Amino acid sequence: MEIKAIRGFNDILPNEIGRWQFVEKTARETFESFGFSEIRIPILEKTELFARGIGEATDIVEKEMYTFTDKGGSSLTLRPEATASMARAYLEHKLYTFDPVAKLYCIGPMFRYERPQKGRYRQFYQIDAEVFGVGNPVVDAEVILMLIHFLKRVGLEKLELQINSLGCRECRPRYRGELKTYLSGKSFHLCEDCKRRLQTNPLRIFDCKIETCQEAIVDAPKVSDFICEECRCHFDQVKEYLSIADLEYVLNPTMVRGLDYYTRTAFEVVSYDLGAQNVVTGGGRYDNLFQEIGGMDVPGIGFAIGMERLISLLPRDKGSTRPLDLFIAVLGKKCKQDAFRIANQLHLEGIRAEFDYEGKSLKSQMRRADKFNARYVLILGEEELERGKATLRNMADKTQEEVPLQNMVHILKEKILRD
Ligand code: HAM
Repeated sequence: MEIKAIRGFNDILPNEIGRWQFVEKTARETFESFGFSEIRIPILEKTELFARGIGEATDIVEKEMYTFTDKGGSSLTLRPEATASMARAYLEHKLYTFDPVAKLYCIGPMFRYERPQKGRYRQFYQIDAEVFGVGNPVVDAEVILMLIHFLKRVGLEKLELQINSLGCRECRPRYRGELKTYLSGKSFHLCEDCKRRLQTNPLRIFDCKIETCQEAIVDAPKVSDFICEECRCHFDQVKEYLSIADLEYVLNPTMVRGLDYYTRTAFEVVSYDLGAQNVVTGGGRYDNLFQEIGGMDVPGIGFAIGMERLISLLPRDKGSTRPLDLFIAVLGKKCKQDAFRIANQLHLEGIRAEFDYEGKSLKSQMRRADKFNARYVLILGEEELERGKATLRNMADKTQEEVPLQNMVHILKEKILRD
């Protein structure tokens, strides 16, 4: 039986890759202009990092992690997100000794055992950006601004920026208590999962998609009404900076985010063109994460963009693959050596050129050139070569001309790079 890929794990095929490369390149350029540097982190980490970082009572840690015991008996997990790993790397390599503020981004696959559907996969890619070491609200606004810049640069419109404040270690416990009391009176409306969440992590009930749970929570107290004076002041300043940057936003008091490390500012960018999985980006501040994973007190803020969701929203013309510059049609055995030589010289000049390997008919070689959208076809025939010539066909306007073999590379280079 033919072996197929695992459910929820996708191949990204050559005809799609141009869009992925375009998005990655734009992210690198945008983030680096804001002073960010790339970091690459392992795909596997000790399970404890995510359990402590993301929170034991989250869906990710409770149900969605790819966890296994390796041959040495250690519990390891395929990373479900990048923030905790980046924080670990900052601590482990003492990046703060170079500068207390680190602006880092990373691009790569994440793994969550979720039920696959459109926009939700078991292996998916994120572009993740984080600022470690600054608690000031101006950074919250700058990180959001950078995100919006990026989304605009890749051509996304019709997006909504939603923000909320989730409070801090001081004020959230009181809110949790209020929410628990409120929902306890309605617990018979809650699904089994939410009945359990009511005890372990009542804020997670906001994310439950089941209708009766949604109804039970609709009039529940909102976290932003319970935040302390310091959190309120922080949030007011974030909003002020967003206004200075002319960024429109919507306050969403029920957005709680699915990971437990968030404190104060939380945000999401939503697209109404996406259907059920409509969050393109989620992020926020996490001022206790470093301590949760055994480090010192370092504030942090960042976001992660879901690449599959983003790419499905890209305008059609973005990131199309570059066509072949030249196809060399080879007529006769002797010509193959010339084709091989010319193609190699063109490759050294950065020109995309291919030639026929198999001695196919001219008709079939021309079909191939067409399939690859070749801009030019160079026809090498034995008779012409003996005269030191070859035919160059411009595939756009269908004109043909004879070109001398001597200086061929130079002539082709001039033509191809000029157009
Ligand atoms: P998250 O909200 O879990 O946050 O994921 C961020 C984005 O990743 C989502 O908005 C979505 O676009 C994409 N995503 C998540 N799960 C899937 C999936 N199963 N299939 C396809 N796309 C998915 C985080 O991961 C945080 N680490 C974000 C962050 C960074 N917060 C602070 N810094």
